[in-house]
Amino acid sequence: MNGNYTFAIIKPNAVRTGKTGPILSIINEAAFEIVAMKMTRMSLEQAKDFYSIHKGKPFFDTLVEFMSSGPVFVMILKHKNAVEEFRKLIGATDPEKAEPGTIRKLFAVSVTMNAIHGSDSDENAVREADFFFSESERYF
Ligand code: CMP
Repeated sequence: MNGNYTFAIIKPNAVRTGKTGPILSIINEAAFEIVAMKMTRMSLEQAKDFYSIHKGKPFFDTLVEFMSSGPVFVMILKHKNAVEEFRKLIGATDPEKAEPGTIRKLFAVSVTMNAIHGSDSDENAVREADFFFSESERYF
């Protein structure tokens, strides 16, 4: 996945309120290529495993309950310098600090329900993509 790929999740609040299409449109306009995507719903145990890096933090229980509360879209995206460029497109974790026009500014309702996830490093992009996708589900 060599620097040109990132992993993203359209989170339950955004899926539930019909924002999947508008978010995919922004991703498409920004010239990210979707090389893998599926709708899924994490169990509480899967969410705890996926977010194990945050275990022990005060927001952990709220985070995993929210992320397992409904379906999400998970995807692998291709773009030059994908991790950094995608994080610019989605904006700050806290929507109040997100730049105008970013996905979180447009669709997040709180730090927890912040509409979308983007990997924060190439290493985490690989780990997160591997969590959801087998080799045969990727169209590189
Ligand atoms: P994301 O970066 O996609 O994945 C981890 C999530 O944890 C993050 O989005 C936020 O939704 C949540 N998170 C991170 N920091 C905090 C915080 N200080 N308070 C509440 N939630 C947080």
